[in-house]
Amino acid sequence: MTPVLVLTNHKGGVGKSTSATNIAFGLVNLLRSARSKNAKVLLVDTDSQGHATLVTTGRKNYDTHDSLYATLVADRKEAPRILTQSIHPSTWDPDLHVLPASPILETAERELIGLAGAPYRLADPLSKIRPHYAAIVIDTRPSFSLMTEMALLAATHAIIPVEPRYLETIGLMSALTKIQDIREGWRHPELKVNGILVTKMDKRIKGHRQLLDDLYQHPTLGKLVCGVIPANEAVSYSHHRNMSLFSYDHRAAASKAYAQLVTHLARQLLTKQV
Ligand SMILES: Nc1ncnc2c1ncn2[C@@H]1O[C@H](COP(=O)(O)OP(=O)(O)O)[C@@H](O)[C@H]1O
Ligand SMILES: [Mg+2]
Repeated sequence: MTPVLVLTNHKGGVGKSTSATNIAFGLVNLLRSARSKNAKVLLVDTDSQGHATLVTTGRKNYDTHDSLYATLVADRKEAPRILTQSIHPSTWDPDLHVLPASPILETAERELIGLAGAPYRLADPLSKIRPHYAAIVIDTRPSFSLMTEMALLAATHAIIPVEPRYLETIGLMSALTKIQDIREGWRHPELKVNGILVTKMDKRIKGHRQLLDDLYQHPTLGKLVCGVIPANEAVSYSHHRNMSLFSYDHRAAASKAYAQLVTHLARQLLTKQV
């Protein structure tokens, strides 16, 4: 079954969108070089700020009728068709498709809470189109709002990006608790914590090194670390140009680290295709 990977953490600026977009693009490339029959990957942007949408499509002016919002408010029987119609090609690769966010998602939650089956309004229609894709990657907003709950209920694997700073790792525990709540409290056993992704790691900073050591030595969290992405200015340069990190500079330290992560994820999640 197609894996649905969600990047989540209620903290902003930890690299969720950077990771979601580059993992999605990295998977397309890896599937293609493995001559997989299906190299299509769908990126779903559930954050009203639309950063993932902007960098992968060059646009952020999606509206009520051609973005994720249209699916969320649709008549339930119509929702899969509307979702399919709202998917756009990315500018990064023909096999990378995008279900874009739009600014209206910011206020949509209030409206959505009143609708029948609100928390499942992403999971249900997405499950219908899931077989068309080799993988689906969901970017989330920096909060545990209804929108993020919808994303978690649609997902099978969660990655929590975290910066190597003390207070950030405290936040990590609430992210793990939230995922456990969704799995057990909301009865979505399919959702697993796939890993903790340490981002913006600067080895020159003693506190960063210390925190990474502590994380590795932690009895449960240590085993969950799935990658370490170095702090690298190539990341912001790639964003300014609306490019993937790999296309901007595949030799940059962060590109290499993301490539390693993508290989690890593909081995874990796409065993039949690669
Ligand atoms: N590895 C990295 N090195 C340097 N800057 C980074 C790195 N990852 C992300 N950034 C920068 O940090 C900011 C937040 O990243 P972003 O992916 O948008 O986080 P989030 O989606 O969690 O809010 C952006 O300006 C981005 O360019
Ligand atoms: Mg973001």
